[in-house]
Amino acid sequence: TAFEHIIVESKGAVGIVKINRPKMLNALSFDVFSEIATAIDDLEEDDAIGCIVVTGDEKAFAAGADIKEMQPKKFIDMFSQDFMDIGGDRVTTCKKPTIAAVSGYALGGGCELAMMCDIIIASDTAKFGQPEITLGTIPGLGGTQRLTRAVGKSKAMDLCLTGRMMDAAEAERSGLVSRIFPADKLMEEVLAIADKIAAMSRPVAAMAKSAVNRALETSLAEGMNVEGDLFHATFALEDRAEGMAAFIDKRKPNFRNR
Ligand code: HXC
Repeated sequence: TAFEHIIVESKGAVGIVKINRPKMLNALSFDVFSEIATAIDDLEEDDAIGCIVVTGDEKAFAAGADIKEMQPKKFIDMFSQDFMDIGGDRVTTCKKPTIAAVSGYALGGGCELAMMCDIIIASDTAKFGQPEITLGTIPGLGGTQRLTRAVGKSKAMDLCLTGRMMDAAEAERSGLVSRIFPADKLMEEVLAIADKIAAMSRPVAAMAKSAVNRALETSLAEGMNVEGDLFHATFALEDRAEGMAAFIDKRKPNFRNR
């Protein structure tokens, strides 16, 4: 697929979706969101790809939804067609593992896009926030929901009510971010992590991801049931036998994704 606002490439088994509107700090217009959705469709279908990285540039992952595009809209416009309707949350339904590589601003819809990914890895220059309240609106793609689950009520309220930004260190401390790297090393480090994930058994990675995601959707008892079912299901895979045999033989496993 040809894209106007994003660049999609693959490096080995890793697919990279790079938002490319640098003059607007990667503001997420409807078109950007729908291009990202199409890119995820393409990469999910591509058997060569085992992990997907969503990123921006050094200055901004994305400074939010495109305020200039939103400003004239009325209730009925947003009610008739909002970000969800054009695939704004497509990243959340991707079966392949996804990593947000965040440098610079991840604000509003940008922070929400990062939170749709399985893992957020940040550079030491990253700044996260939900500044919507300063524009007279509130988050619309998970900023009140995913952020609260990630960092707890007090900090989510603090961010959503004051609109302030938090730096990478605070984001890591509060559990939003899994790791921080220096800005000039971010992509190299993220690609190494993505390579490692892509080398795992694809169905097993999908099961691990699915089980962790259930933890946010259900009770502990039901979550344990789901985990148990998926754990048992791995024993139906050749890759599970191979992984354990490789350990015993002191060699690298050769996963064949079956
Ligand atoms: C449209 C944006 C933009 C945005 C920046 N720009 N963010 N355009 N939508 N979200 C544009 C600016 O207008 C400017 O264009 C250019 O990018 C560079 O930005 P500056 O403000 O000049 O840069 P700087 O002074 O470095 O300040 C950076 C910043 C600031 C602090 C990140 O740009 C900012 O506050 N941006 C808005 C952040 C925000 O409120 N995000 C939430 C959006 S609402 P010109 O033409 O002047 O050069 C949202 C709702 C989500 O996300 C709902 C569901 C998706």
